[in-house]
Amino acid sequence: MIPVYGSSVGADELREVQACLESQWLGHGTRTKTFERRFAERLGLDGFLFVDSGSNALYMAVELLALPPGSEIILPTFTWVACAQAVLLAGHRPVFCDVDLDTQNATADTIAAQITPQTKAVMVVHYAGKPVDMSPVLDLGFPVIEDAAHAVDSTIQERACGSFGDVGIYSFDPVKNLTTGGGGGVTARDPALIDRGRKLRHSGIGKSGFDAAHSENGKLARWWEYDISDVFIRMLPSDIAAAIGLAQLDRLDSLQERRRTLWKRYQQAFRDVDWIQTPAEPGSKERHSYFTYFIRVPHRDYLAHLLLDKGIYTKLDFHPLHLNGIYRSDKLLPAAEQLNQTGINIPLHPRLTDDEAQFVIDTILATQP
Ligand SMILES: Cc1ncc(COP(=O)(O)O)c(C=O)c1O
Repeated sequence: MIPVYGSSVGADELREVQACLESQWLGHGTRTKTFERRFAERLGLDGFLFVDSGSNALYMAVELLALPPGSEIILPTFTWVACAQAVLLAGHRPVFCDVDLDTQNATADTIAAQITPQTKAVMVVHYAGKPVDMSPVLDLGFPVIEDAAHAVDSTIQERACGSFGDVGIYSFDPVKNLTTGGGGGVTARDPALIDRGRKLRHSGIGKSGFDAAHSENGKLARWWEYDISDVFIRMLPSDIAAAIGLAQLDRLDSLQERRRTLWKRYQQAFRDVDWIQTPAEPGSKERHSYFTYFIRVPHRDYLAHLLLDKGIYTKLDFHPLHLNGIYRSDKLLPAAEQLNQTGINIPLHPRLTDDEAQFVIDTILATQP
C-alpha cells in the first residue's frame, strides 16, 4: 500500500539516537536544549519550547493567553480535533468558522463572520503549509494562536509561520515534515510566555531536576527542592525525540525539496484537468511546506475506493468539526461542507518514489467523474 503521509528517517537519525542511548541520558536534557536552540535559530524564533506533542502544544498555547474563563475562541472547522480540544480543555468555547475553498485556510472574512461580544481570541491553521493571509487576521485585533503544525518550513516575507501570532505551535508527529517520532513545540512573541510555558511543562513545578542541578552553575544550595505553582499536564519531551529532531533539522532542506518536487509534479499533471480542483499555489512572498496534496473532485468517494483497490491510500483531512461528534451543530459553513464532500488527500511524502507518484497520477486520470 502506498501511504498517504510519511516522514523519512535513516542513518543520520540512527546515529543521533545511538549517541543518545549510549549517553544513558534518555529524558529531557542537553539534546532537548540543543534542539530548542537550533529549531529557534532555523526559524528565526525569539523563543521555542519543545513539548511531547503538537496537541499538547496547542493546549499550552491556549493556556498561555490567560483568557477569562469561558472565552469564545474562533477557529476553522476544517482542522484537526486537537485544535478544538485545546480550547475546551483550557475552559473556553470553540466557535467554528468557515475556510476558503481554494486554500482551505480561514480568512479574516470567515473569522469576522463569527465575532461576538464574547470573542476573546482567534486560532488559525496553515493548512498543508499554505500560509494564512496573516495581516488582515492580525488586524481584527484579537490575540492569535497560530497552528503551524503543517507549516514548519512556511514563511510570509521570509518570516516563519508560527511567529506572527501571540503564540504559535508546531507538530513533530511521525508523519510531519520534521519528525521527532512524536513531539511538538510552542513559540510566543512575548518571552515571558515562553518562561511561563517552561515552568508549566513539567507538571507546573517550575523546573526539572536537570534544570535545577544545572542552574546557578550547580551552586544552588538545595537543587532538589521545587515550588508547585500551577496545575498542569506533564509535557516534557525526551532526549531521544530531540536526537531524532536534530538529525531531521539537518535534513530538512532536502526533505522539503523532495516534497516540493512531488507537489509540483502533481500540480503539473492535474492543473488542466477540468474536473480536478488543485490546491492554491503559494503567493510570491510566501513559502509553502507541502505537507499534503489536497484536491477536490466530483466523484470523491468512488475515486477513494478505486485508489484503495489499487493499493493507494488516501484520506480526507479534515472531517469538519461542526459535522462531527460532540462538536456537531446546525451551523452552516458551506465551503467546509463542500470540502467534506469533494476533498481527498493523495500520497505526498519524502519516501514516495517518482514511479509511485506517476502511478497515483495515472490511476486518478484514468477515472471519469
Ligand atoms: C493542524 C494540526 N494541528 C495540531 C495537530 C496535533 O499535532 P500532534 O499530532 O503532534 O499532537 C495536528 C496533527 O496532525 C494537526 O494536523
